[in-house]
Amino acid sequence: MALYAIGDLHLGFSVDKPMDIFGPGWAGHVQRLEAAFSQLQADDVTVLCGDTSWGMDLEQCLEDFQFIDALPGKKLLLKGNHDYWWNTASKMKRFFEENDLTTLDILHNNCHFYGDYALCGTRGWFFEEEKGGHNEKMRAREALRLEASLKAGGDRPKLAFLHYPPLYEGYQCREILEVLEREKPALCCYGHLHGPSHRRALQGTRFGTEFKLVAADYLCFQPVRLL
Ligand SMILES: [Fe+2]
Ligand SMILES: [Fe+2]
Repeated sequence: MALYAIGDLHLGFSVDKPMDIFGPGWAGHVQRLEAAFSQLQADDVTVLCGDTSWGMDLEQCLEDFQFIDALPGKKLLLKGNHDYWWNTASKMKRFFEENDLTTLDILHNNCHFYGDYALCGTRGWFFEEEKGGHNEKMRAREALRLEASLKAGGDRPKLAFLHYPPLYEGYQCREILEVLEREKPALCCYGHLHGPSHRRALQGTRFGTEFKLVAADYLCFQPVRLL
């Protein structure tokens, strides 16, 4: 049994979304994901850190979910900024059940236990979101979600998963960082950054938490083993 993470699968079996918009590094990304996941075992767990499917609703994601479901192990899905299909937990869980997607679950306003560890997370916040209004309120809500998820882990050691990087060059999401600093998860994985922005990604330990970029193109479409 092992724990893995990877973000930004950006699947689009049912939508016309060529992935070369993200650069030539995305060529054959579905086949590369399939080959990498084939090394995993049925009792492994992979956290998918958002931007999983281009589908606009659950129905449009079905083929993408079926692809993910057929990969070995359990997958915990986190919300990314492109996951327009995201719905209430009960609707998503019902959709998984009705379509026999037995290896998929949601990491949102909850936490999952993995051995002695609590796996916690939320989408997070990034400066790119700051175009609309209500930013402060939404940032605070994301921080509260993260805090609730970490608190649900009780006394267990915690691992945090976000879609958005809480630190990036000159940008920092103070609300999210304060929660991380307080709750001190050993690790914080995040995705969202693609192509040239990989070079500017925060990696390494800050205030006791190790930060790791797990966007699929950064990982060459190979899930990273965490435990
Ligand atoms: Fe993203
Ligand atoms: Fe992405």
